[in-house]
Parts: sequence; structure tokens; C-alpha cells
Amino acid sequence: MLGAEPMTISPQDLLFEVACVACRAPSIANSQPWLWRIDGDVLELRCDQSRQLPVADPHGQLMVTSCGALLHHASVALAALGAAATIERVDDPSDPALLARLVLTGSRRVSAEDMRMHHALRIRRTDRRPFRGIRPLPDAIVDLLRQSAVPFEVSTHVFDPAEIGLLGHAAQAAAHIHAKSDSYREEMAAWTTYRDPAQRDGVPPTAAVPQVPRPVPVRDFAPDSVPLLEPGPGDDRYTTYLALATDTDTRWDWLRTGEAVSAMLLTATTLGIASSVLSEVVEVPGARALLRAVVAPAEFPQLTVRFGLNASGGELRPTARRPCSEVITIVR
Ligand SMILES: Cc1cc2nc3c(=O)[nH]c(=O)nc-3n(C[C@H](O)[C@H](O)[C@H](O)COP(=O)(O)O)c2cc1C
Repeated sequence: MLGAEPMTISPQDLLFEVACVACRAPSIANSQPWLWRIDGDVLELRCDQSRQLPVADPHGQLMVTSCGALLHHASVALAALGAAATIERVDDPSDPALLARLVLTGSRRVSAEDMRMHHALRIRRTDRRPFRGIRPLPDAIVDLLRQSAVPFEVSTHVFDPAEIGLLGHAAQAAAHIHAKSDSYREEMAAWTTYRDPAQRDGVPPTAAVPQVPRPVPVRDFAPDSVPLLEPGPGDDRYTTYLALATDTDTRWDWLRTGEAVSAMLLTATTLGIASSVLSEVVEVPGARALLRAVVAPAEFPQLTVRFGLNASGGELRPTARRPCSEVITIVR
């Protein structure tokens, strides 16, 4: 434990720092569909519906999940700064974009684990290259990843070798349906190939990999252009695939799925494990139904994630984020 000193920073400056750091969170197509508002010692999180992907994500599920990842990132930043806060998840029909409210309550001790998670927040990258592990991740490590989702009441399912084939089938079917949709291709190209780097969002060609043979394909993030990330010699043979599922399928479930996936990705990063999220299988209803039959017939699959080792792969560049001043409004 690293001592709890009295805070010498104003609540407003502290919350600006928290909100800004949290924006390193992953989001669907790096759309960063969020807005922060600071009012004294209260920090409000709203989704930015102008950044929703209407074709891939017509109900805003992945937009809200992305905001959940941001909310968890904010809690990691708060902890590392030694700030205590209450976090209230909100569903208010009079303010539908409002997702959560954080209220500062004082200071708290900072643990070494808090600092490890904060470090992970800074260095985590989505790694779409095939992973190079030479044996499966140890069960104890997979259990640690699963444990990190428990506080958010999100269940996890690890795909056994036979089920990975079905996941691959669902991912291929989803990609096939997307590839035939002009509106999907246009939407994805607008967030990737044709994105102006000055916007500081979207997925650049340097983060996209060519389609190579592998058990479960990753999304084609470079439609009609050339992906620039070398896939390297990995083959995903020992990659761990995990699904997150919830017992209902509401906005609340999407938000907590985002919090859970953020906790899993950051925990993986602290352990030197590479990761990437796969959401195409939940975007296409037929693929999601297939996934549901495999994962948990009584539940709703929300997201899938792949984990593995890629230690000898080159460093990945961080993807851009919008300036904090564009995303954070200070009322007082
Ligand atoms: C809800 C959600 C869905 C995502 N879906 C995919 C996906 O289908 N394929 C993929 O490669 N990455 C996916 N990602 C990862 C984002 O593309 C990635 O976070 C974003 O481009 C920013 O890059 P970074 O994670 O390296 O910071 C998803 C992330 C979130 C939060």
C-alpha cells in the first residue's frame, strides 16, 4: 500500500485527469462514442450517438459496451490517483444518453495492483495478428482473466477445441454477410480506409492485418485497401477464445459487458498476454444465434475476445484518441 495523502488537487482538475486518461479505452472501430461532463465533484458519462455505427450496431449495443469500457478505465484511473468515488449506472428516460455518474467521496490508499492496472491502461493495444503461443494458456491464468469479469456479473465461457471450430464458422458467416452488404462496407471504410487521420479516431491501416488462414478470422478492417500490420509467423493454434454473456439483453447488460471486457483486457496486459475483441459474431443475428447455442442457450452472448502470447511480434503503435478538450465539458 502506498499511503493515502490528503488531496491537493481540485475535484474538477482531478476529474478532468480521470476522464482524459480513461479515453485510452477500446471502442468499436475506435469510434470513441462518449462524452464526459464535469460539474464540481460529479463526473457524468454520456454516449455520443452521432458516433454510433448504424449498420454494424443498429441498436447501439456496441456503442454502450464501448462506454462501459471507458467507465472501467475511469475507475482504474481514479484508483491510481488515490481517489474514492461512487459509481452509479443510470437509465433515465428523460436523459437517454446518460449512462453513469461518478461522485468523488474522498481519498483511498493506492495498491500495487492499482498501479499495475494503470500501467496496463497506458500500454494495452488491440493485437489482431495471429498469436504465437506454443501451448494453451495455463488454466490458472485463464481463471484470473475470468475472475476479473465477476464483479460486473458477466459470465464467461471458454471455448474448447471443438467449439472453436463453431466460433470460426460463426465468424466466417458474419464476415460473409457483412462483405455482401454495401452499406456495411461503406460504413467500415469510413471508419478505416477513408478516415482522415486529423480526426484522431477510427482504425488506421497500421492496425489492420491481412486476412491469413486461422481458426477464427478477425474483422477485415481494411476493406478495399492494403492492411499494413505484418501478421508475423503466429497461427492462433493455441489462442484462447472467450465469450462474455449476460442473463438479459438490456442497456445495463451492454454497459457492464464493457466494464467486464475492459477489466479482462487490462488484467491480460498486466500478465503480458496479447488480446483483441471480436464483435462481428454478435452483430449479425444468425451468427449470434449460433454463438448463443454454443455458449449459453439461456443467456445472451455480448462479445468474444481472443487471448494469447505474441512476445516476439513487433511493438504495436497506439491508435489515436480525440483531444480530451473535445470530449470533456466542464460546467464548473
Ligand atoms: C465493443 C467493442 C467491439 C470491438 N470489436 C472489434 C472487432 O470486431 N474486431 C477487432 O479487431 N477489434 C474490435 N474492437 C477493438 C477496437 O477496434 C479497438 O479498441 C480500437 O480500434 C482502438 O484500438 P486499441 O484497442 O488498440 O486502443 C472492439 C472494441 C470494442 C470495445
